[in-house]
Amino acid sequence: MAPIVSVSHLVKTYGSGFQALKGVSLDIEEGEILALLGPNGAGKTTLISIICGIVNPSSGTVLVNGHDVVKDFRATRAIIGLVPQELTTDQFETVWNTVSFSRGLHGKKANPAHIEKVLRDLSLWDKKDNMLRELSGGMKRRVLIAKALSHEPRILFLDEPTAGVDVNLRKDMWKVVQTLREGGVTIILTTHYIEEAEEIADRVGVINGGEILLIEEKSALMKTLGRKQLRIELAEPVTVLPQGLEPYHLKLEDDGGRLIYDYDASGGRTGITTLLAAIAEAGLRIKDISTRQSTLEDIFVELVEKRA
Ligand SMILES: Nc1ncnc2c1ncn2[C@@H]1O[C@H](COP(=O)(O)OP(=O)(O)OP(=O)(O)O)[C@@H](O)[C@H]1O
Ligand SMILES: [Mg+2]
Repeated sequence: MAPIVSVSHLVKTYGSGFQALKGVSLDIEEGEILALLGPNGAGKTTLISIICGIVNPSSGTVLVNGHDVVKDFRATRAIIGLVPQELTTDQFETVWNTVSFSRGLHGKKANPAHIEKVLRDLSLWDKKDNMLRELSGGMKRRVLIAKALSHEPRILFLDEPTAGVDVNLRKDMWKVVQTLREGGVTIILTTHYIEEAEEIADRVGVINGGEILLIEEKSALMKTLGRKQLRIELAEPVTVLPQGLEPYHLKLEDDGGRLIYDYDASGGRTGITTLLAAIAEAGLRIKDISTRQSTLEDIFVELVEKRA
């Protein structure tokens, strides 16, 4: 099946001469949830804005459902919903009107039942007659989501949708996203909450300095890079590692009070049993042991730091 979004060799140089995207290529499959991670200024918003047809690329192409986003702006914009990072709404308009007008702007016939459903799903129904300036920051953010859903898009972009949103609401929002996904909507989101990406995405992309450093199935990512750590607290600190422990490539932490052993939890043999025997053999006494699963966050930090 052809990808629903196909980005090739995308370059964006802003007027200032700054190159925000340095030749990004990526395909997005219909129906997937793709999370884009990257530090501030990585180029996430620039990439999304170009796909949505809001910012023009300097070179390269983007096809959405087979249509070029620059030449065929109407066709591509009609099937895309965008929840922008910045709040951009008329503060003196009501919630109901804001969301209904947005549907009209995308060339769709009025459908009050759909607007009502969207507002109810996002817990905005009781605020439908309020002006936007009367809402809290988190509620305004939800209005942006409602706007993006007003014209029943096939592809939804969420640029930092949960920044400044409380925990309960964030959960509600992800429920909405999950429901959309079950309805076949393709979802691309950026977030700084790595646990969030870890929880809901099918694929994770890491972008930094205008380049995609990695894009992979989340499960594969966790498997190849997701390692475990055994942390061994010693009863008495050591200054050097005793002989016999070299094969384990241990790290010393906490002024010699802690040994760190990295191992692959997906393999059959972890080496823990022999390591513990070797530690006893070397005459070290163990005070405590714990394990720690490495997370997407570790992977992310490692990738971004390596390039820094
Ligand atoms: N209109 C503009 N003119 C000049 N430079 C810009 C413009 N918009 C963005 N940039 C620059 O392009 C780079 C990428 O910005 P972008 O907004 O895409 O980053 P981001 O990954 O979305 O960051 P954040 O996580 O902070 O939202 C930054 O260095 C930014 O300063
Ligand atoms: Mg951004």
